[in-house]
Amino acid sequence: MTDLWSRLTSHRISQGDQRITDLFEADAGRAAAFCTEADGLVFDWSKTMIDAPARDLLLALAQGADIAERRAAMFRGDRINETEDRAVLHTALRNLSGSVTVDGEDVMPAVRATHERMSAFARDLRSGAFAGQGGKITDVVNIGIGGSDLGPYMAVLALAPFHDGPRTHFVSNVDGADIADTLKGLDPATTLVIVASKTFTTIETMTNARTARDWMAARVADPAAQFVALSSAADRTADFGIDPSRVFGFENWVGGRYSVWGPIGLSLMLAVGPENFERFLDGGAAMDRHFQTAPLDRNLPVLLALVGIWHHQVCGYPTRAVLPYDNRLLRLPAYLQQLEMESNGKRVAMDGSDLAVVSGPVVWGEPGTNGQHAFYQLIHQGTMPVPCEFILAARGHEPDLAHHHILLAANCLAQSEALMRGRSLDEARALMAAKGLEGAEQDRQARHRVFPGNRPSTTLLIPQLTPYTLGQVVALYEHRVFVEGVILGLNSFDQWGVELGKELALKVEPLLKGEPAPGHDPSTEHLAGLFRALRA
Ligand code: F6P
Repeated sequence: MTDLWSRLTSHRISQGDQRITDLFEADAGRAAAFCTEADGLVFDWSKTMIDAPARDLLLALAQGADIAERRAAMFRGDRINETEDRAVLHTALRNLSGSVTVDGEDVMPAVRATHERMSAFARDLRSGAFAGQGGKITDVVNIGIGGSDLGPYMAVLALAPFHDGPRTHFVSNVDGADIADTLKGLDPATTLVIVASKTFTTIETMTNARTARDWMAARVADPAAQFVALSSAADRTADFGIDPSRVFGFENWVGGRYSVWGPIGLSLMLAVGPENFERFLDGGAAMDRHFQTAPLDRNLPVLLALVGIWHHQVCGYPTRAVLPYDNRLLRLPAYLQQLEMESNGKRVAMDGSDLAVVSGPVVWGEPGTNGQHAFYQLIHQGTMPVPCEFILAARGHEPDLAHHHILLAANCLAQSEALMRGRSLDEARALMAAKGLEGAEQDRQARHRVFPGNRPSTTLLIPQLTPYTLGQVVALYEHRVFVEGVILGLNSFDQWGVELGKELALKVEPLLKGEPAPGHDPSTEHLAGLFRALRA
């Protein structure tokens, strides 16, 4: 493995000032050879500096990391989350006809039973058979944070054309502004509140849940009757007063950021209906089958992971941008930030040693074309290349607005072309000459208009954004993160890095209230003093 990392680095250095366009000139078949199709999804990775030797070395890296064995261990329910001593089985939530055993017990009957209960509840609520104290439920408020918010929020926005259920709202931030703005204008008598928290202890969620309960209690005789809990902690949901018939539980082998496929996806199911939710699960399960069966060199999650490793660990580009050319994928970058950075932002390997290579990159992004009018300047002309991951659907959902979609797609393809080709100084000079500039001024102005090009990107092309394809894409990214984690040698399924700040917040709270709170550093004490003074 170490040898492969150094061979990859040497190979990258040996590419010198070669350009991506040179790779196309040298290989007439490159566009097709570095474009992989699976189950209707197309992943084009030809606009990168990965040439045939780099591809072979990367594949050898995957082979050497024993992806196949780690993958099998995950799917069969081994405790691969070793620091929490847990299996990792979110895949079981989307394979309802499958069979998975954990500690000798078939977990699928319980998974299926919960899924059936969710579906029955969704059908009742959508039909009005389950109603609020003022009539049919018109609005659903999902209160959760991190994985208990980002997945369903992202998916609800993505599948807007399929909405035929109640309006769906999301509250995550402990900032009172979030819940105040959300509840404003809602009728407590026709609102359902979902408290989504695996642990049912997360301070943001529980604070918001209590505020929502008070809001409802002011208008409704029995507020708890309009609350649902999505949680693994049945005792705590009972303490909160939620009837067990409206508690949808899941096991500790479903990680927060992988939980949209089960009860945490209830808001999505209410919005789009159980059938569409099942299409979403089917898409995820189809990607699971592809991941388990396709050879490494045709395996989409493996290829995405290898391209990511090439750009971050080998080329040293510190960030990657996710750029969906689909406005409904507005929250996909935020969702992927948690998925990728909470999973692979780690400095210690599975065995407790220091990680031998750098950990996962900063992931960020925004839908196109909006991003083009904001940060693409830096992507095109900044000093540090940003590998870009474009996502584009061939068809939109607005047949009357097909010309919008063609324009959207043209922008997407134009950006990746521009990033790769750039514009030379000679071309820029010619542009300036055409405007009548000459000599030193022509040169000065031309230099600002040069695009260095040779900036890598990939494009994921999907037929149309539907429940099924969304399921495929989400599962694709989940497995990509898994493969990257296996190759880096870390545990992608814990998140110890979020703990310290949470603990300290509890100790800072008394400081802000002016209560005795020893043990803080001088800067924090000083800031807290200023905060108190400004509030006085
Ligand atoms: O941010 C840490 C984290 O544990 C995430 O992994 C999780 O998705 C989120 O908090 C919410 O946790 P819970 O569902 O237990 O409220």
